Amino acid sequence: MITGWRLTGLLSLLLVAMSFCLLTNHAWDIEGIRQVIRATARTSLVLFVLAFTASAMAALAPNAATRWQRQNRRYLGVSFAVSHLIHLGAILALASVDRSLFWQLTNIMTILLAGAAYLFIAAMAATSFDAAAAWLGPRNWRRLHLIGAWYIWISFAVAVGKRVPFDSFYWPMAALVLAAAAVRLIAMFRRGGKAAAFGASEARG
Ligand code: HEM
Repeated sequence: MITGWRLTGLLSLLLVAMSFCLLTNHAWDIEGIRQVIRATARTSLVLFVLAFTASAMAALAPNAATRWQRQNRRYLGVSFAVSHLIHLGAILALASVDRSLFWQLTNIMTILLAGAAYLFIAAMAATSFDAAAAWLGPRNWRRLHLIGAWYIWISFAVAVGKRVPFDSFYWPMAALVLAAAAVRLIAMFRRGGKAAAFGASEARG
């Protein structure tokens, strides 16, 4: 099975190809841009959940698949950052093509809170490389990745949760968001200590 940076490269290529197809199918119009925003939000959620739950899944259900997930956590995490970079690019394209629609779909509060998520994503992706991680030190690395991961989880919970009352389509996404937190918390209680779900599960590997 494909692993490591090759996995990130392949997933990034697929994400770019998906976005390109969506834009081409809609003649590069606003609907195409909105499709890219929505599709990358969904790919981001799946990739984030895989990285976020990797250690917990490997502890709770050890098998070949969860071992692969655990070993490739870093590469799944960077792939999530690529997916969300495309989400941001499409948002900026929407803002420049149709400013009034952009403000109908979002507001300043969302931009500030989701913008902070982007700062965490950038910092976490940058420190996924050995040299940057060594520069930060293991203690600060764990802190950054612990706080950042839960902040991003909250961002998904808010983004999905606010859509749930209006469209049942978002129920499965909401279930995935909740399941991800549940898996982390169950692993924490199973291991009988805070370190399992928080500190130790964020240790690099
Ligand atoms: C400044 C930052 C951001 C802005 C301005 C923004 C804007 C938007 C907009 C306008 C949509 C709706 C697109 C449409 O209906 O056509 C959307 C969808 C979404 N965004 Fe973002 N977003 C930002 C960051 C984030 C972050 C950080 C997350 C999660 C970590 C996120 C998760 C989502 C989700 C889950 C959807 C729903 C996708 C769907 O319909 O399935 N966004 N975003």
